[in-house]
Amino acid sequence: MSLLNFNDILRIAQERQFKAIGSFNLHCIEMLPAYFRAAKKTNSPLMIQISTGTAQYLGYKLLVDSVCSLAESENVPTCLHLDHCTDINAIETAMNAGFTSVMYDGSHLSIDDNIANTRIVVEMARPKNITVEGELGAIGGSEDGKAVADEDITITTVEDAVRFVHETQVDMLAVSVGTVHGLYTGKAQIRHERLTAISKATGTPLVLHGGTGVSDEDMRLAVTEGINKVNVGTEMNVQWVGQCKTTFEKGKVNDSVRKFLIPANEAVTQVLMEKIALFK
Ligand code: 13P
Repeated sequence: MSLLNFNDILRIAQERQFKAIGSFNLHCIEMLPAYFRAAKKTNSPLMIQISTGTAQYLGYKLLVDSVCSLAESENVPTCLHLDHCTDINAIETAMNAGFTSVMYDGSHLSIDDNIANTRIVVEMARPKNITVEGELGAIGGSEDGKAVADEDITITTVEDAVRFVHETQVDMLAVSVGTVHGLYTGKAQIRHERLTAISKATGTPLVLHGGTGVSDEDMRLAVTEGINKVNVGTEMNVQWVGQCKTTFEKGKVNDSVRKFLIPANEAVTQVLMEKIALFK
């Protein structure tokens, strides 16, 4: 089975009664089978997203080959997405390697420059049937080493979102509506009204970043308000590292390292299954 783009897996997800797709950051190659296990157990299509840091660590080809191979052997409709990329050359590398979806993140730029660069990426992607995510507004917290301070958070406006979608023709739009990347210090204050208004005005699938730590109630609501893609990254890392700390501590140096990683991967499968259950 070849990899699918976001529009294709969203359609399959909706046929299976899901309102949204979870897009799960992969932190290392050892975690990969855990994602497919969760998708199979929930009968959900799978979207795996890769930060530029992970892409540099593992290499685009290894990622494409291994995700493609598991999609085929496990018979799971799968999309491989490049997360938060500010470098158009890196996006081109991912596209040529076989990624089926990409995000150009121009949220740090003026809206005019963000639109111009996102438009370039959309034009590169269309002939290859690759979907493109853009971002408007500034989401707080820290992602792949890049931090946005609280005072720099900008909530996406309806007017800007309409203009951005119209002029770029992106397939999906990441909006800043109160979530943050990474761990929360308090409860996420999601602007549900703004979310609904942006969705109605743009008619485009919206993306919720910072899915870690969002309450189940907020998540269930957000997927009825126009969110069709939910990004979750930190939560799998927290579970995996937490389990590994325990198993490595208790283990012996001549134990197969596999023994230490299996409980960590089981915890990751559990995270994905719990998130996916919220999208029905
Ligand atoms: P979290 O790490 O907060 O779940 O956010 C992930 C994300 O939005 C990646 O783009």
